[in-house]
Amino acid sequence: MIAYLNGVYLAKDEIQISPDDRGFLFADGLYEVVRGYRGRLFRLSDHLARLNYGARHLRLGQHDFSCLAAVARELISRNQLEDQEITVYFQVTRGAAPRAHAFPAAATPLTVYAAASLYHDQKMQEARQEGIRAITAPDIRWAHCDLKTTALTANVLANQQAKEAGAGEAIFMRDGVLLEGTHSNFMAVIDNTIVTAPLNNYILGGITRKVVLEICREKQIALEERPIFAIEIQNATELMVVGTITEVLPVIQLDSLTIGDGTPGPVARRLQEEFDERVRKAGASS
Ligand code: PDD
Repeated sequence: MIAYLNGVYLAKDEIQISPDDRGFLFADGLYEVVRGYRGRLFRLSDHLARLNYGARHLRLGQHDFSCLAAVARELISRNQLEDQEITVYFQVTRGAAPRAHAFPAAATPLTVYAAASLYHDQKMQEARQEGIRAITAPDIRWAHCDLKTTALTANVLANQQAKEAGAGEAIFMRDGVLLEGTHSNFMAVIDNTIVTAPLNNYILGGITRKVVLEICREKQIALEERPIFAIEIQNATELMVVGTITEVLPVIQLDSLTIGDGTPGPVARRLQEEFDERVRKAGASS
């Protein structure tokens, strides 16, 4: 596989990143994961806009990462991934410099990495049909979950806890409010309305969440962006998590509570169909 590092395309296994890189030392960086369906990158510009947003907030300097769209296309071409199901991963860190907490010298170049991979996950495909079990986990993350930083220890621990419990995802809970998954946004159907946490610093503004909200508005599916309290889940007829890797994934059990009749419900099914329709219609690099 050919990957990209700081302006150069080279074999992925030949890439060397300094042990002084601030991504390695401090998790001082941002990342994005983009899906490519038949080689066409889904909502790439939204992902790169989120990267720009994160970079502004991390004070990474005056950079416009929209230029990474061309890098992604080059990776597809050099790896002959046209017409394939793929993911493209981007990571940007504050660069390599002697270890000190404050920012390095202004001239320190950022580390910019990108790689494309084939993506096929049969188990995820089955899970989308059958639904998954999820657990709740205390949200021990920092107060800027809107930034897609590489500091993912809390997400890793919660996801592992889910795996060890035989579940597919953990939903972070803060002060009795269910916020989002470890790598997905969370939605409930309560009183025939899709409810999802509002955009603020406690959740990532997911691109898939945005697409689902667009579908709701277009198809006049009732929608509310408001906090979901854990005690409300007993009234939920459906739950789901949505994200770049998960797409629209029904949740049929949360902790010990079975949701509805324990199978994916009609709202999740409808959203899956509408989401697939958008993927089919999406043009190159839309
Ligand atoms: N994660 N919330 C969190 C904490 C996430 O890490 C993600 C995505 C999402 C969904 O965002 P989007 O729809 O833009 O993918 C929500 C990626 C896929 C990951 O970490 O692999």
